Amino acid sequence: MLIGVPAEILAGETRVAVTPETVKKLVASGHTVRVQSGAGVAASATDAAYQAAGAEITDQAGAFSADMVLKVRTPTEAETALLKPGAVVIGMLNPFDAAGLQRLAAAGVTGFALEAAPRTTRAQSMDVLSSQANIAGYKAVMIAADKYQRFFPMLMTAAGTVKAARVVILGVGVAGLQAIATAKRLGAVIEASDVRPSVKEQIESLGGKFIDVPYETQEEKDAAEGVGGYARPMPASWLSRQQAEVAKRVALADVVISTALIPGRAAPTLITEDMVKSMKPGSVIVDIAAGKGPDGVGGNCPLSEADKTVVKHGVTIVGETNLAALVAADASALYARNVLDFLKLIVTKEGALKIDLEDDIVAACRVTHDGQVTKK
Ligand code: NAI
Repeated sequence: MLIGVPAEILAGETRVAVTPETVKKLVASGHTVRVQSGAGVAASATDAAYQAAGAEITDQAGAFSADMVLKVRTPTEAETALLKPGAVVIGMLNPFDAAGLQRLAAAGVTGFALEAAPRTTRAQSMDVLSSQANIAGYKAVMIAADKYQRFFPMLMTAAGTVKAARVVILGVGVAGLQAIATAKRLGAVIEASDVRPSVKEQIESLGGKFIDVPYETQEEKDAAEGVGGYARPMPASWLSRQQAEVAKRVALADVVISTALIPGRAAPTLITEDMVKSMKPGSVIVDIAAGKGPDGVGGNCPLSEADKTVVKHGVTIVGETNLAALVAADASALYARNVLDFLKLIVTKEGALKIDLEDDIVAACRVTHDGQVTKK
């Protein structure tokens, strides 16, 4: 099959959908791979490295005119116009972006949004949300450590003792767990909150402390169970008790990393302006949910600004929305392997396209086909 890999054009998008490692495997399976010149440069993969792996180097039109196009982000309007009707597009097509899906459907392409894969054991090797959130959690701590004007670890020096940083993590999914692990390696003291009770053990196994907010009603318990492993919006009663507990910790914290998300909905407000005011000068918030707050404003903190670092009430608030792209090489390496594993589900050993909708992963990821939005 002819596979095209365009360079990503969205601002700040440094990732690429194939690496020389995955190109080599695709070529060994008999595919022709055309990579747009410069597509991997920001992720430290040169044209020469792709060529050595067996790819042909092409221009944008050449990459988009393939039978199968591998992308990181959903194609823009101009990019969609370059796609061939009947082509297959695989990427993070954002299943909640109705306009983007409509555009792909109208172009007559079959789109697979990898974010829509179920959170099952079989789907783990192609789980782009996990591979990228893991990186985001790591990078959030790296940025916090960089912005914070004190040490993370406790130090005893001849000039006196330095206290360990207190880090609060809000939302303990994939990103939050990696943030805990990373902050722990740096020597911080960690407390963490999530709506799902199952995370308590995971937090403790990484050396953090769970901020316990007991459930008082059956409704609260049911909501906390979530759906498909994801959180559901919690009742206001629980949220207000959680806020009281979190507020106490945030006031004492040096660093807060917030990652709380609910798929397809606005991110919950967990760090209010009053809580920011209560923090010590020089404290740092990294809001991974920035840009996903109510009406796209703020994130888990209403003061965070998408893609900006701002100082409010003496607190540095980082609103970077694409943290994984700041670790471009490894983010691309993991994403490219996710894509390669997904391809095994829709391409036969002989190299022919075979879309089996009996396969739950294939069915969940297929978002457009035959002119229609087919998202489940
Ligand atoms: P996510 O990115 O959708 O959300 C991040 C975290 O925010 C979640 O842990 C969620 O419970 C939490 N959250 C939502 N509202 C909150 C609130 N008001 N206060 C505090 N926390 C709040 O989640 P992610 O990282 O995508 O993980 C979702 C689930 O999928 C997790 O249970 C994870 O363990 C599971 N998972 C399962 C996999 C598998 O079995 N193959 C692979 C990866 C993840």
